[in-house]
Amino acid sequence: MKYGHFDDIRREYVITDPRTPLPWINYLGSEEFFTLFSNTAGGYAFYKDARLRRLTRYRYNNAPLDQEGFRLYVRDGNSVWNPGWQPVQAELDSYSCRHGLGYSVISGSKDSVSVTQELLVPQGDNCLLMRVTVENAGKSEKRISLFPFIEFCLWDAVDDGANFQRNYSIGEVEVEGAAIYHKSEYRERRNHYAVFWSNRIPDGFDTSRDAFLGAYGSPARPEAVFGKGCTGSIAHGWQPVAAQQFDLKLEPCKTEKLIFGLGYIENPQEEKWLRPGIINKERASAMIARYSDDTSFENALSVLKTYWNGLLSSYQLESGDEKLNRMVNIWNQYQCMVTFNMSRSASYYESGTGRGMGFRDSCQDLLGFVHIIPDRARERILDIAATQFPDGSAYHQYQPLTKKGNLAVGSGFNDDPLWLIAGTDAYLRETGDWSILNEPTDFDNDPSLAEPLLEHLRRSFNYIKTHLGPHGLPLIGRADWNDCLNLNCFSESPGESFQTTGPSEGPVAESVFIAGMFVKYGRAWVDICRHLDLIEEAEAAEKEIAKVEQAVLSAGWDGKWFRRAFDAYGNVVGGQDCEEGQIFIEPQGMCVMAGIGQETGEAEIALQSVGNRLETKYGIMLLQPAYTRYRLELGEITSYPPGYKENAGIFCHNNPWIVCAETMLGHGNRAFDLYRKTAPAYIEDISEIHRTEPYVYSQMIAGADAPSFGEAKNSWLTGTAAWTFVSISQYILGIQPTLNGLQINPCIPRDLHSFRIVRRYRGATYRITVDNPEHVEQGVREITLGGKPIQGSVLPVLDSGAVADIHVLMG
Ligand code: BGC
Ligand code: NOJ
Repeated sequence: MKYGHFDDIRREYVITDPRTPLPWINYLGSEEFFTLFSNTAGGYAFYKDARLRRLTRYRYNNAPLDQEGFRLYVRDGNSVWNPGWQPVQAELDSYSCRHGLGYSVISGSKDSVSVTQELLVPQGDNCLLMRVTVENAGKSEKRISLFPFIEFCLWDAVDDGANFQRNYSIGEVEVEGAAIYHKSEYRERRNHYAVFWSNRIPDGFDTSRDAFLGAYGSPARPEAVFGKGCTGSIAHGWQPVAAQQFDLKLEPCKTEKLIFGLGYIENPQEEKWLRPGIINKERASAMIARYSDDTSFENALSVLKTYWNGLLSSYQLESGDEKLNRMVNIWNQYQCMVTFNMSRSASYYESGTGRGMGFRDSCQDLLGFVHIIPDRARERILDIAATQFPDGSAYHQYQPLTKKGNLAVGSGFNDDPLWLIAGTDAYLRETGDWSILNEPTDFDNDPSLAEPLLEHLRRSFNYIKTHLGPHGLPLIGRADWNDCLNLNCFSESPGESFQTTGPSEGPVAESVFIAGMFVKYGRAWVDICRHLDLIEEAEAAEKEIAKVEQAVLSAGWDGKWFRRAFDAYGNVVGGQDCEEGQIFIEPQGMCVMAGIGQETGEAEIALQSVGNRLETKYGIMLLQPAYTRYRLELGEITSYPPGYKENAGIFCHNNPWIVCAETMLGHGNRAFDLYRKTAPAYIEDISEIHRTEPYVYSQMIAGADAPSFGEAKNSWLTGTAAWTFVSISQYILGIQPTLNGLQINPCIPRDLHSFRIVRRYRGATYRITVDNPEHVEQGVREITLGGKPIQGSVLPVLDSGAVADIHVLMG
């Protein structure tokens, strides 16, 4: 069942039923000010850091669902409703929510009155804007009252939800004209405040939640709206809010527009006050003035559209398959950008109070946005690398505000170092900017330890090389990509963190997955060395890689698939003799992507086993059979009920690894089949089962063992976005950046007759047409550039600004 549809021309998803199975959200903002906004106008805003600079309050995991947001109440005689349906939930005559690129538009109508809320965060400014349009489509005059309403957060979202003995006494506001200033803690150490404003003087306002909602009132039935109107309350402590009232008289066919804003203002210490007790509002007034009329809102919207069109134009596909086009051209790239902005911090599943920037996560996200924003990718790589320890290992995460590594989830995840090579390699292939390798980069955020970035990659490689176990496979440390496979943890106390408990280095626990990574990204390191003429180093590295590859093919091979690991006792994890957890997806994907067993046949057999043992109609499960009881020696993976998360869920992140692996073996049909299984646009019809947004990937879908098989969770902030974009753009459609230019090697479903890609690459524009008249899955017969055949399959690097037409003939 569908709850809406795609509008590809406008690059929007249009929700037509507000009762979506879960809130379906959008992200507004792409610089420093952000807003999460749901299809019923729920959500929250923050500046830079969703925990420490939270502007509006949000109660996660609440019933009713999604209660706080950017509310607008419409009072029309005795009837009260919201254009976004929530929280009053009055039946509407019509409803739609259009989530676009960086903006959202909610429209609702009832009894001949239609109201539209358009929200966006303007480029270059720290505020959220909301334009409200009210139209009387009836035949008689209407007297309508409008009430916008938001609830302020007392800045630190964790403290806000916990430290009530203090917080109930610190709330402070000022009201001046059409603006409400939230200034809690400004009297002491903060030099920032929030301001909610409208571009016309309201007929009433409230700043105390009790006054607006009523002490036992609720957002679904605010006393002010249902009864006597706003009271002009000034909040002293308790819960400061911003609510306003506008009494409008609308002739038939008349429209009124109002602009609202929610801004974040910082003042220099010496300019905090206008006079004792009264905050300096100069910067706020300037912000309000910037958006005082409809034209300024229109301008902000058009700047935003230009910005997004520019970003997405770096990879545009015309394939004849509208679902594929919309994933590649719009939503997959958009989601990649959201992961760039948010990492794993704020979504409707990540509370914004916990996880910062992950070392491994950020390196992988980069694979999906490096072609869109190479300059910012460069900065990101250097930030990540600066948190690396001198021995090559890494903090598992770092804080976006300070850019310093932290030990909240520990260190010693032994895949981390290799992801730095993966990310840097992707950047080099995209940009050809070798100067990044010379950038002096701290170790452990200590400038006295700084070395060129190249040295960081070397230490990454060497760390794995010098941390091998008894089978010659890399030691796993705390865990590898699978945070929940904790082979050295042995936790018996409830609530203890699986990620930080136990020794990070066990005596022997080894990972076949990291071995696959070492082969794949070790070879990338070798290519980098060769490019820099570090021939001896390259050759020495190749020998180490060959040894590990051999170890994978002997100790790591189980007969029909690659094993997952050896535990701390030296027992096989992910082998046919295991009681449960006999086969895992990760090593099949990574080892085949690394080319292991490609010539000797293991790769082919491993992928067949994936099909036979792990594949379902909704995607490929992480492992089988699911673990049915907690196992001390395996850790968190066995803590989840069967079918959920890492315990045999369909973990969307590693499905594209199998897609890439299938193309390595030339299986275009199969690769595309698997790609479609989890690609949101293809499963829009089963939204009532899938439940999360049909325009973005989720981290996981419940596996076949779960009672809710097919149900997705944790949408938006997942490495799935980057990896699926890599799988479709580089492996299936086959436009792959290399150190020397764009390589063309499509591996497509046989019935794809032809497609066209416009790819921006190192400043030039490549207009590539691929024809497949013989309906093959792989194989390039001829490539012409500007009408002339080229040797091999790598397009040369063109001058910046050049535009070239390329024709590829498959067969
Ligand atoms: C989750 C993992 C996640 C980890 C991060 C675990 O509870 O299952 O998906 O990577 O926490 O700390
Ligand atoms: C989510 C984490 O963000 C990611 O780093 C990890 O690889 C996966 N979970 C699998 O455990």
